[in-house]
Amino acid sequence: MSGSYHIHTWGCQMNVHDSEKLAGLLEREGYVRASDENDADVILLNTCSIREKAAEKVFSELGRLRPIKEKNKAVLGVCGCVAQQEGERIYQRAPYVDFVVGPRATESIAPTLAGIRAGGQRGLRVVDTAYRDDSIKFPFDEIRRVGEGRAKAFVTIIEGCNHRCTYCIVPTTRGREIYRPIETVLDEVRSLAAKGVLEVEFLGQTVNAYRDENGNTLADLLTETSAIDSIGRIRFTTSHPAQMTPRLMDAMAATQPKLCAYLHLPVQSGSTRVLQRMRRGYDRETYLEKIQALRSRIPGIVFGTDIIVGFPGETEEDFEETIQLLDEVQFDTVYSFAFSPRPGTKALDLVDELAPAEKHVRLQRLQEHQKAIQARRMARWEGQTVEVLVEGRSKRNTQRWTGRTVEARVVNFEGPSETGRLEQVRITETTPFSLTGRV
Ligand code: 5AD
Ligand code: SF4
Repeated sequence: MSGSYHIHTWGCQMNVHDSEKLAGLLEREGYVRASDENDADVILLNTCSIREKAAEKVFSELGRLRPIKEKNKAVLGVCGCVAQQEGERIYQRAPYVDFVVGPRATESIAPTLAGIRAGGQRGLRVVDTAYRDDSIKFPFDEIRRVGEGRAKAFVTIIEGCNHRCTYCIVPTTRGREIYRPIETVLDEVRSLAAKGVLEVEFLGQTVNAYRDENGNTLADLLTETSAIDSIGRIRFTTSHPAQMTPRLMDAMAATQPKLCAYLHLPVQSGSTRVLQRMRRGYDRETYLEKIQALRSRIPGIVFGTDIIVGFPGETEEDFEETIQLLDEVQFDTVYSFAFSPRPGTKALDLVDELAPAEKHVRLQRLQEHQKAIQARRMARWEGQTVEVLVEGRSKRNTQRWTGRTVEARVVNFEGPSETGRLEQVRITETTPFSLTGRV
């Protein structure tokens, strides 16, 4: 008998999905999901290190978990991107941790746990931060998806990143790109479809760089997936603008309406000078051309983006170019962040004169500006009827249901419904961030 487990997850969709694989790995070893971390025999932290704040949170969380671990004699493991970034150093700040395993080395968790449970390896302080392909080789039928039976599922197709953006820690934490064979991906999608999954979202840090051994690309994958009858919605995230090729855009157009008319395309900055210092591999004009090329192929497509403000050397003019880009593109969703220096990245060598308080002022200005854009864009939906894939009850108001439109818009609504259904919802109210309506 093995006992029970609890997993804490921070970070991107990749991490959320990795936790579903970690859960599968533990269940393969005979562990069951604990209803409460206070009862768990194994506690895993699946961590994120994209910004300093996220990484620091891990250590405060470890401090909080320490008494629980000691009381229950639980095994405590640090996984994910902070594990990869910090390795051995985790033990300097948290000596009571049992193991540290990076995102690509997850198969060592099972033998490590077995050793610890057998009594021989407690205090061994295992560290495995090898760049293997455990994560993409994980048998898909063993993944334990959150809310099993839901109508939507994540599917990893590529892991790692070959770009070298000067601010970014991901190439260190996730390693160089590795790809799953298209046939394995399609087998997984077919098996999900057979279980009633309606929407698949293909995942990768640079998902549109996907290219398997036989030269199959994301364009091929979209085409093949859209031929699977019961798959009704296809998404992919996150794309790099430099790799948005005409061929991929054509495949996106050809697979409408199954391919959702929403694209997350991080621009990071509206200033070519800043983009060069970030080593993004495109300039402002090229980015705008790609948006234009997609709009001309897929009328009605909407966009989301990520923006970093206060990158070293960003002037007031650079910043204003970013604001103007928001006006030009009219994004539906913008995730914006103040630049956070990360260990081992090239941006550490750049002169950064802007005070943190100034960065926050810019961040707020940008968010206010975008909020007004979104308020106008969302208001267009009032009175319209939209198709919503129901994800479950609303957390804030359990009388209501929540789900998303094709454009990835969150809709909270009233009326009889059920998780996994497609509902026609009439919109009665809009905010800059969500829609409210009735079946
Ligand atoms: N500082 C601030 N934001 C960052 N991001 C990545 N690295 C950093 C950093 N060092 C942002 C980017 C990326 C998103 C996931 O996080 O906008 O697209
Ligand atoms: Fe965070 Fe990036 Fe790791 Fe995702 S890949 S968990 S965003 S550091």
